[in-house]
Amino acid sequence: MDRSMRLDRFLTEMGIGSRSQVKDMARKGRIQVNGVTVKKTNEKIEPDRDLVTCDGIKVDYAEYEYYMLNKPQGVVSATEDNLHETVIDLIRKKPAKQKGSLEEEENQACRPKRSDLFPVGRLDIDTERLLLITNDGELAHKLLSPKRHVDKRYFVRAAGTLPEDAQERLKEGITLLDGTRVMPAVLEITDKSQETVTEAILTIREGKFHQVKRMFEALGGQVIFLKRLSMGSLKLDESLKPGEYRPLLAEELKRLKD
Ligand code: URA
Repeated sequence: MDRSMRLDRFLTEMGIGSRSQVKDMARKGRIQVNGVTVKKTNEKIEPDRDLVTCDGIKVDYAEYEYYMLNKPQGVVSATEDNLHETVIDLIRKKPAKQKGSLEEEENQACRPKRSDLFPVGRLDIDTERLLLITNDGELAHKLLSPKRHVDKRYFVRAAGTLPEDAQERLKEGITLLDGTRVMPAVLEITDKSQETVTEAILTIREGKFHQVKRMFEALGGQVIFLKRLSMGSLKLDESLKPGEYRPLLAEELKRLKD
């Protein structure tokens, strides 16, 4: 298989700069391929074989990257935002945590390389916990498409008491206040000991805008706290503190793709 790609694409995808910036860097003699200064960025390289350096620093290649983030409140699930910090800003700020064996290579600080990372689905600014970040569009589609029925589990704290038949109604699929129909969902009440607050785990298979909040509204409750616990087979690593992230393990990725 031909694994070659243009040098400018390689450098742009690895976040070194825009096309025109890397072109300019090459013109100034800052880019080398296998020790040879390259002045033109339309040349082809083989990312797996060639050693590319920028200002003398090796540029590593990754075709795909996959990270789980413990999303804190106050950060938006977007790639860019004029007002708020995004989850992508967050992961670029500091290296990922590493998990698993303490092999020297694995233990080195790991920073996202690709410039085309995006969050898989949106968590609201005030929603916390599991968010997958990748540049793998095919996997994102598989996880988000309602047709694929991938479960998303949320812990919900809601003001108000839910009707007695809330579980049955959700099992059938309910209609939201604006008339939108949602697919069947599973509700487990985990605490209804408090008179005005209900705690529950809700499992849904879609990702409509503010879906959990709108589902509770339709049942007469108001979500006051929301966190995502899992997405398909992927659960948030409990050792990740809010704002921390780590690469997916090989087996986590394999199970997600299966
Ligand atoms: N449903 C919501 O209402 N908000 C989220 O952030 C995720 C699901």
